[in-house]
Amino acid sequence: MSPSSKTTYLSKTVEQLQPSGIRRFFDLASKMDNVISLGVGEPDFVTPWNVIEASFHSLEKGYTAYTANAGMIELRTRISAYLKKKYQVDYDPEEQVIVTVGASQAIDLALRALIDPGDEVIVVEPSFVSYAPAVSLAGGIPVKVDTDPLQQFKLEPELLEKAITEKTKAIMLCSPNNPTGTVLSKDELAAIAAVVKKYDLFVLSDEIYGELCYDEKHTSFSQIPEMKERTLLLSGFSKAFAMTGWRLGYAVGPSEIIKAMTKIHQYTIMSAPTMAQHAAIEALDHSETSVQEMKKSYRQRRNFVVKEFREMGLNCYLPGGAFYVFPSIQKTGFTSEEFAEKLLQEQRVAVVPGNVFGRSGEGYIRCSYATSLKQLDEAMKRIRAFLQTI
Ligand SMILES: Cc1ncc(COP(=O)(O)O)c(C=O)c1O
Repeated sequence: MSPSSKTTYLSKTVEQLQPSGIRRFFDLASKMDNVISLGVGEPDFVTPWNVIEASFHSLEKGYTAYTANAGMIELRTRISAYLKKKYQVDYDPEEQVIVTVGASQAIDLALRALIDPGDEVIVVEPSFVSYAPAVSLAGGIPVKVDTDPLQQFKLEPELLEKAITEKTKAIMLCSPNNPTGTVLSKDELAAIAAVVKKYDLFVLSDEIYGELCYDEKHTSFSQIPEMKERTLLLSGFSKAFAMTGWRLGYAVGPSEIIKAMTKIHQYTIMSAPTMAQHAAIEALDHSETSVQEMKKSYRQRRNFVVKEFREMGLNCYLPGGAFYVFPSIQKTGFTSEEFAEKLLQEQRVAVVPGNVFGRSGEGYIRCSYATSLKQLDEAMKRIRAFLQTI
């Protein structure tokens, strides 16, 4: 082969990945003036001050070196105690907890630790945009399962069962869900667990929005009988503690898998940022009041936005968690992309077309209500005006 015969040096896997539909949209919005964004999935709150201060102290004291690969034991111990208190599940801080660079890295490590080439991983759609690409990057095959909008996009056990093959190894779950805000109840999780057990599957349970449940107490998948042994609970500080920029998350689960994840982590990242780990200890120790205040505000915003969409005549169920609503725009006759694009051009409101989260999201838009009530009010007025012109 001649040296000039290559057309690209890129890996085929990476070449085939599509850029995130969310980014494309926001690049468009960033070039316009006076845009109200209901697009980004991050809190509008600044991290609580005591947490910020803890990072200053960390630096002041000269903690500027790497920590243990799996994270500071003090933080792992706090995470373990926090989960015990919240869900009554026990995780050994030494063996069963790893601190990661955001929940994003926890997802990546988990998949790389579990997947051999050709293994199938079930991704329940509409889903967080990273799951399927992360499965592909780990060498696996994402198998997408569409959920039913009439069932608030909840994963029904029959749908799961239909998607399982000889090659299925794991399933990605997310409750509360991004983008739909849907929360699965204990009974609904138990029904899924029965299928997981029947086919001897493993579960990656992304519970990053677990603190942000507005109507009922959050159930962790690891709480369902016999599921702790076959579940990795993935979470982090980004959402509930308003710490997206700190890049801190964690995974807890069976020692063997945490050990494998730590091995990959050791060779790729080494350890999560040290001052962020000190900040996270403070967050777990002393931020309950701040989390509750932010949650109260999100709840109020959720109720406002849902009421507004319903008054505009769009079907919109009341999502139980996270900070997204997922109204239907089917009545308008536009596709999700057309609707979002026209709304942005004509009224300068940025929302995310539902189809970027999977084909079952077509006909819907994701609106984040992690923005002030004043901004939300203005956004709703503009959307109303937009609907009147079409
Ligand atoms: C469902 C879900 N999981 C994981 C993440 C990533 O979180 P982190 O900032 O901790 O990497 C996000 C961020 O939007 C998310 O929505």
